[in-house]
Amino acid sequence: MSGKDDRQQFLADVISGLQSTPRSVPCKYLYDARGSALFDAICRTEDYYVTRADLALHDRHLPEICDRIGPQAHIIEFGSGSGLKTRRLLERLQQPRAYTPIEISAAALEASINDLQADLPHIEIQPVQADYTNDIPDRHFQLVPPAKRRVVYFPGSTIGNFDHAEAIAFLQRMRHIAGDSGAVLIGVDLLKPESTLLHAYDDAEGITSEFNRNLLIRMQRELDARVDIDAFRHEARFNRKLSRVEMHLVATRRTNIEIDGQRFEFAPGESIHTENSYKYTIDGFRTLASEANLQSLQVWTDPEELFSMHWLGAI
Ligand code: AVI
Repeated sequence: MSGKDDRQQFLADVISGLQSTPRSVPCKYLYDARGSALFDAICRTEDYYVTRADLALHDRHLPEICDRIGPQAHIIEFGSGSGLKTRRLLERLQQPRAYTPIEISAAALEASINDLQADLPHIEIQPVQADYTNDIPDRHFQLVPPAKRRVVYFPGSTIGNFDHAEAIAFLQRMRHIAGDSGAVLIGVDLLKPESTLLHAYDDAEGITSEFNRNLLIRMQRELDARVDIDAFRHEARFNRKLSRVEMHLVATRRTNIEIDGQRFEFAPGESIHTENSYKYTIDGFRTLASEANLQSLQVWTDPEELFSMHWLGAI
């Protein structure tokens, strides 16, 4: 898609999101260059336990995970942003057959491949530039000679940013790529006390707040929106019924956003819902995976049991 089409899509999504009740904007728009840098900074904060727990899990269980994957595997990673974890995994694997990162951004893909290939010259890297939320033709994953098994690797906890129907569709796509003899190795953040969750999504350094408010800055810059950014504050809420942390941009006073000739009025307290982060119990995620015809055959957690990794096989 060209830059012009991207802008049109962004504009259409923002307008339809502001017209709907409750108001919302898809969370993918949080990640422009500044948003991605702010997300990296969130991962280094004291309050955002997710990245640390995911790394601790890898530290603790990597030998076992690599045994489970076995020799001659084709590792297919959704995204290419997990540098350190991927590197450790590939370094430890027994004769990996190949590694395929799937990434929409050509620049991010190239950067990650260059670094990896320099350090691991014996591994065949077969990158795919694509949006992994869409179907990707199987020819991109075929190897000659074929691998012993395909393992779709999705560390981090991005599965939590999809609602249940989307997550099931996404898991089905992973299952399809892995094939009947393959597996899916996926990170899932665990449900925990509300106060821990709220601190993680409203960190004391204010970086998550900047990350959320950056969406308004992006709307100003890319869509020529007229918006008083200081009239909105970041809020993290825990929705217990749906077991998810929600991010909102809440109007602190009467204000409005003007965009493409349309005006959206906000009363104090009214919000734009910008992200969901679902939190699962181990059994809850097992049930979700089974709806995508995947069976959770093994689960690893970090020592504090904050985060989990499921090994899913085709049913
Ligand atoms: C990318 N994703 C897994 C993060 C999460 O925890 O849901 C995004 C995030 N939003 C606020 N902090 C982090």
